Amino acid sequence: MKKEQLLQKFKEIYGGDGEIRCFFAPGRVNLIGEHTDYNGGHVFPCALTIGTYGAIRRRDDDRLRFYSINFPETGITETDLAHLRPGQESGWSDYPQGIVWTFEKRGYHIPKGFDFLISGNIPAGSGLSSSASLEVLTGLMLKELYGFEKITMPEIAQIGQYSENHFNGMNCGIMDQFASAMGKKDHAIFLDTASLEYEYAPVKLDHAKIVIVNSKVKHSLVDSAYNERRIQCETALKDLQKVTKLKTLGDLSREDFEQHEMAIQDPICRMRARHAVCENQRTVEAVQALKAGKISEFGRLMNASHVSLRDDYQVSCEEIDVLVNLAWEIPGVLGARITGGGFGGCTVNIVENDMVDGFQNIVGESYEKKVGHRAEFYVVDVGDGAYAL
Ligand code: GLA
Repeated sequence: MKKEQLLQKFKEIYGGDGEIRCFFAPGRVNLIGEHTDYNGGHVFPCALTIGTYGAIRRRDDDRLRFYSINFPETGITETDLAHLRPGQESGWSDYPQGIVWTFEKRGYHIPKGFDFLISGNIPAGSGLSSSASLEVLTGLMLKELYGFEKITMPEIAQIGQYSENHFNGMNCGIMDQFASAMGKKDHAIFLDTASLEYEYAPVKLDHAKIVIVNSKVKHSLVDSAYNERRIQCETALKDLQKVTKLKTLGDLSREDFEQHEMAIQDPICRMRARHAVCENQRTVEAVQALKAGKISEFGRLMNASHVSLRDDYQVSCEEIDVLVNLAWEIPGVLGARITGGGFGGCTVNIVENDMVDGFQNIVGESYEKKVGHRAEFYVVDVGDGAYAL
């Protein structure tokens, strides 16, 4: 979407005059390090070049007006600064509303209302973080519109996570918002979610590309299953803390875990914790492999990540396993796994350049035969974090 189109639509919807400012915040794909971000572990996501575009203009009163080009049938949603409440479920505008509410909670007073318009190109339900991109977009807009110079991009990510946890009721970690706020073209972010220390690693795959495959399924109860996983990890952590000193599951090496795992009473919680610990270790190893140019090793660790997410964390589903199994059989596919929260959404694959077309044909045809609908393919460009247009 071009800035001119955004501005034109804004004027058509809201009329009036005054300065309109435009911004963009990307979605993300995670290469490895899944369900580690609320366990004090490492993640390795990168920002995409698709995401959410937005335009905003200040008002002289307390009204907040929201419009999405993606949902014209919803029209304009209106509220005002005094009436922001968590858990109202009034649709997509709950996300920007939550960000305004979180700004106030953190002492960043929003003095007057605004008119707000967005247009997104992240496929719905794909698990490529359309909500985080909307949160980060809103955070950046508010920072710029009301002059909160002190707010940094990592803080915008934290505001997004807080808002999603407390306003929208989804207990997500920091990964998606951090990737959307802090992404860097052609780099992935190696983030320690315990300290928020991070490092950019070039996504140099030599003869290969990252290909995302969208299963086009999103099973219901995703949020509740996600929140349940989180509680199971917390239960496992409490049991482990009775026998050894640790703050998060991310503090444990695989060997430490094996030594103490029987302290975890519930076998399901033990499986969840095993995934969190081993996935964290795999992520550290995968980043080392990528830096050393060992792409096949990186791919092998991605495959192991999928097995662990499927068997120990149990967040895969039939359609995703079909996509991953098909990918694993194709020569020239170096690694394939589910990416994101799970229960549908996308897989992420490292595919050798000369197999990219063949991969799409083979996986595309067999998936449709087995599942009954088509998958979508995106060859990834790694983009920058949120910015002003
Ligand atoms: C979702 C959450 C993230 C992260 C992933 C799983 O995308 O929003 O915080 O936990 O799932 O890695």
